[in-house]
This record gives sequence, C-alpha cells and structure tokens, in this order.
Amino acid sequence: MSQIGGVQSWCLGVTLQLVLAAVLHQGFATVAPPTTAQTTAAPHKEPGRPEKGIYHVTSSNGTTCLLASMGLQLNITFSSVSQNKTVQDVVNLQPNVTVSSGSCDSESASLRLTTDAEKTNLTFFFSLNTTSNKYHLSEVSLSALWPDMKEPFSARNRSLDYLRGTLGYSYMCREEQTLNVAQDLSINTFQVQVQPFGLTGDQFGAAEECQLDEDDMLIPIIVGAALAGLVLIVLLAYLIGRKRSHAGYQTI
Ligand SMILES: *[C@@H]1O[C@H](CO)[C@@H](O)[C@H](O)[C@H]1NC(C)=O
Ligand SMILES: *[C@@H]1O[C@H](CO)[C@@H](O)[C@H](O)[C@H]1NC(C)=O
Ligand SMILES: *[C@@H]1O[C@H](CO)[C@@H](O)[C@H](O)[C@H]1NC(C)=O
Ligand SMILES: *[C@@H]1O[C@H](CO)[C@@H](O)[C@H](O)[C@H]1NC(C)=O
Ligand SMILES: *[C@@H]1O[C@H](CO)[C@@H](O)[C@H](O)[C@H]1NC(C)=O
Ligand SMILES: *[C@@H]1O[C@H](CO)[C@@H](O)[C@H](O)[C@H]1NC(C)=O
Ligand SMILES: *[C@@H]1O[C@H](CO)[C@@H](O)[C@H](O)[C@H]1NC(C)=O
Repeated sequence: MSQIGGVQSWCLGVTLQLVLAAVLHQGFATVAPPTTAQTTAAPHKEPGRPEKGIYHVTSSNGTTCLLASMGLQLNITFSSVSQNKTVQDVVNLQPNVTVSSGSCDSESASLRLTTDAEKTNLTFFFSLNTTSNKYHLSEVSLSALWPDMKEPFSARNRSLDYLRGTLGYSYMCREEQTLNVAQDLSINTFQVQVQPFGLTGDQFGAAEECQLDEDDMLIPIIVGAALAGLVLIVLLAYLIGRKRSHAGYQTI
C-alpha cells in the first residue's frame, strides 16, 4: 500500500509543480514589463504603454475607407541640442493631440497622423494586390521637428511588408510588435486593429489575428494538455495500484 501511495503522491507532486510553474509563468508574464522598464530606465526614462487611438480616413463620398485602432510608440535616434550628442528617445504618440487624415484609392491607401502644431508627421501607406486580394503596410514616412532636435528628422522606407491582411478583413495584433523602418527609426505598435481596404458600413470586417497572438494562445493550450495528460497518468497509477493490491490480498 505504501509503495502505491508513494507513486500517487509523486504524481501529485509533479502535477502540483507543473500547476505552480504555469501559474508563476503567467504571473511573471504580467508582472515583468514594469520591473524591466524600471531597471532599464536608468539613462533616460521610458514612457509607459502608449494610449490607444482610433483613426479614420474618410473618402470623398463621406464613408470611412480606412480605420485603425492602435497605440503607437516611436523609437527614434536624433542629435539632441540639450545633450550635444546623438540620443535615442522613445516617445508615445498621444491620441488626444493627434489628427488623422489620408487618402484611399483602389490599390493604395494612406493614413497620415499629425501631432500638435505639426511637430510630427507620420504616414502609413498600404498597398492592395488585386490579384491575390491581400494588403500590407508597404511604406512608412516620418518627419519631425521637436524642440530638442538639432535639425529636422526625416525617415522613409518604401519597401516594407508588415500588417498583412486579406481584403474585406481587418488585421489584428494584440501583442506588441516592432516595425523597423530605418536605422534611426522603429515603431512599436500595441493592440493594432487596422483595415485599409474593403470596409463595410464604417466598421471593421472580421479580424485576422497575427502570428504572435496565435503563439501566445498556444501556451495555455499546451499547459492544459500537459495537465490533462498528468491527471490521466495519476488515474492510471491509481487503478494499476488498486489492481495490484487486490492481487496481493488474494494471495495472502
Ligand atoms: C464611396 O466610395 C467608395 C470608394 O471610394 C466606394 O467603394 C463606396 O461604395 C462609395 N459609397 C457610396 C455610398 O457611394
Ligand atoms: C529602441 O531601438 C533600439 C535599437 O535601435 C533598441 O535597442 C531598444 O530596445 C528600442 N527600445 C524600445 C523601447 O523599443
Ligand atoms: C558639442 O560637442 C562637440 C564635440 O562633440 C564640441 O566640439 C562642442 O563644443 C560641443 N558644444 C557645446 C555647446 O557643448
Ligand atoms: C492628453 O492626454 C494626456 C494623457 O492622457 C494628458 O496628460 C494631456 O493633458 C492631454 N492633452 C490634452 C491637450 O488634452
Ligand atoms: C500579387 O499577387 C500575385 C499572387 O500572389 C503575385 O504573383 C504578384 O506578383 C503580386 N503582385 C504584386 C504587385 O505584388
Ligand atoms: C508636417 O506637415 C505640415 C503640412 O504639410 C507641414 O507644414 C509641417 O512642416 C510638417 N512638419 C514637419 C516636422 O515636417
Ligand atoms: C526598409 O525596411 C526593410 C525591412 O525592415 C529593410 O530591410 C531595409 O533595409 C529598409 N530600407 C532602408 C532604406 O532603411
């Protein structure tokens, strides 16, 4: 009996350890960002998560032809007047002081975001392939003139391939994503949902989730499957143990 009890408690121990590991993993996943932000903030302070903005582009007939909902963070390298050297700065785009405009054509669409007093002009260009009915973010341009900049900043990349979606669907990514635009500019996106083509009734179409989100959902599924497997093993060990002990009693 004690041997069987040993097997059972060992299995239970492993199960508990796994549950604990899963809980801790979840805990760290949610707790980690603030702590790392605090430790790496030493040189110059990092902003928190950017606020989510909702941006529209309206076509000539008054219907919304491009819709985007996202938090944006610029990671930009420029020469600073106050520090007299090249610095790297991470700046959130504040939706309440950002104005959107843009244009929509059959195979291209643009979203232009201008912040207060036109100090920052950020433009996203989307392309639609009418053969495959797929769209993507193909170009980003940024011009900025912030108070601490020695000279106006400008960056443009016309050969990007981000935020890939299908005509009639919106592209969605809950996870943070980095769009590398140029050596001195990258853009971090948070909770993006965007649809540059084929909107119906000023609304997002069904969402196509990005790979990052799908990977993130895999973890709970794997943990769940592992736990189910362990429960099965414990149950089997118990049943086998019971059978063996029955046999033992019969021989006595
Ligand atoms: C408005 O124009 C877009 C193209 O720019 C077209 O797809 C849409 O059907 C038009 N809507 C109306 C109500 O005319
Ligand atoms: C900004 O970009 C640099 C590399 O260019 C990278 O090392 C750094 O982690 C980025 N910071 C953020 C907050 O994305
Ligand atoms: C800025 O730095 C350069 C060399 O890096 C130096 O020659 C110049 O005097 C500095 N200017 C100021 C205002 O400190
Ligand atoms: C915009 O929002 C930020 C943070 O939510 C706030 O600090 C700022 O005062 C707001 N600015 C305006 C012009 O409303
Ligand atoms: C559009 O998609 C088709 C099919 O995937 C591809 O063969 C073609 O090269 C694409 N066109 C452009 C302009 O990318
Ligand atoms: C942003 O665009 C506006 C209008 O085209 C322009 O007047 C302004 O100078 C631009 N700002 C920067 C920093 O380039
Ligand atoms: C444009 O972006 C692509 C993909 O991030 C990169 O490979 C390429 O070097 C960039 N081009 C320029 C001019 O920065």
